[in-house]
Amino acid sequence: MIIDILTLFPNNFNGFLSESIIKRAIDKKKVVINIHNIRDYSLDIHKRVDDYPFGGGEGMVLMPEPVFRAVEAIRNEDSFVILMTPQGVKYNQKIAYDLTSHKHIIIICGHYEGFDERVRSLADMEVSIGDYILTGGELASMVITDSVVRLIDGVIAKDSSTNDSFNNNLLDYPVYTKPRDFRGMVVPDVLLSGNHENINKWRLEQQQQRTKLRRPDLLEKR
Ligand code: ADE
Repeated sequence: MIIDILTLFPNNFNGFLSESIIKRAIDKKKVVINIHNIRDYSLDIHKRVDDYPFGGGEGMVLMPEPVFRAVEAIRNEDSFVILMTPQGVKYNQKIAYDLTSHKHIIIICGHYEGFDERVRSLADMEVSIGDYILTGGELASMVITDSVVRLIDGVIAKDSSTNDSFNNNLLDYPVYTKPRDFRGMVVPDVLLSGNHENINKWRLEQQQQRTKLRRPDLLEKR
C-alpha cells in the first residue's frame, strides 16, 4: 500500500514516521508513506497557499489551485482520495478495515480556518475523527494512517488485530501479565487454569459485560 499525505506542515510527521510499528512497517516495505508539502504546488511567486474569504469573515482559506495541482500530480487510477474535515463521516474500525483494500490512498489535510469548498470535489470520501475541532487535519491523517497500517498483513501479529476492541462491535477483554498478585490486585483464577475452553468463555463474557456497561451503543449495532 502507498499512502500520500498532503499537508502544509510536513515536519509534523517526523516523529510519527520514525518510531514504533509505523517505522517497522515502512522498513519491512509493507507500506510506503510519502509526505508532500502543498506549498510546493503553489504557482504564486511567494508560494502563497491561502487568501481572504469572499464575502468577508475571519481567517484565511486554503486556495484550490495548490491542492488540485498536488492531487493531480500524485493521483493514478488506483488512488482513493480522503479529505480530513470535521464535516466528514465519523471514523471507526470498520472504515479502517475497508481502507485496507486500497492500493493507494491520498489524504488531504485541511488547515487554517478552512479550505475552498471546491477542494471537496477531489475527495472520494470526507472523514472526521470525532466531534471536535483540531487546528488542522495532520493529527487526524496520522490517526487514519496508523489504524490502517497496523491492519496490513504482516505488520502486527494477526491475533493482536483479530482481538481488537470494536471487532464484532465488542470491546476487548481484560489482559494481565506478571506478577499474579500486584499490591493485592490478583489475576483471575481462570486465566491461570490452563483450561482454554473456560478462558475463551470468560473472555467473551468479559467483552459482553464491558461493552454493555461502557458502550451500550455498540451492542445495538450487533
Ligand atoms: N480537521 C479539524 N478537525 C478535524 C476532525 N475532527 N477530524 C478530521 N479532520 C479535522
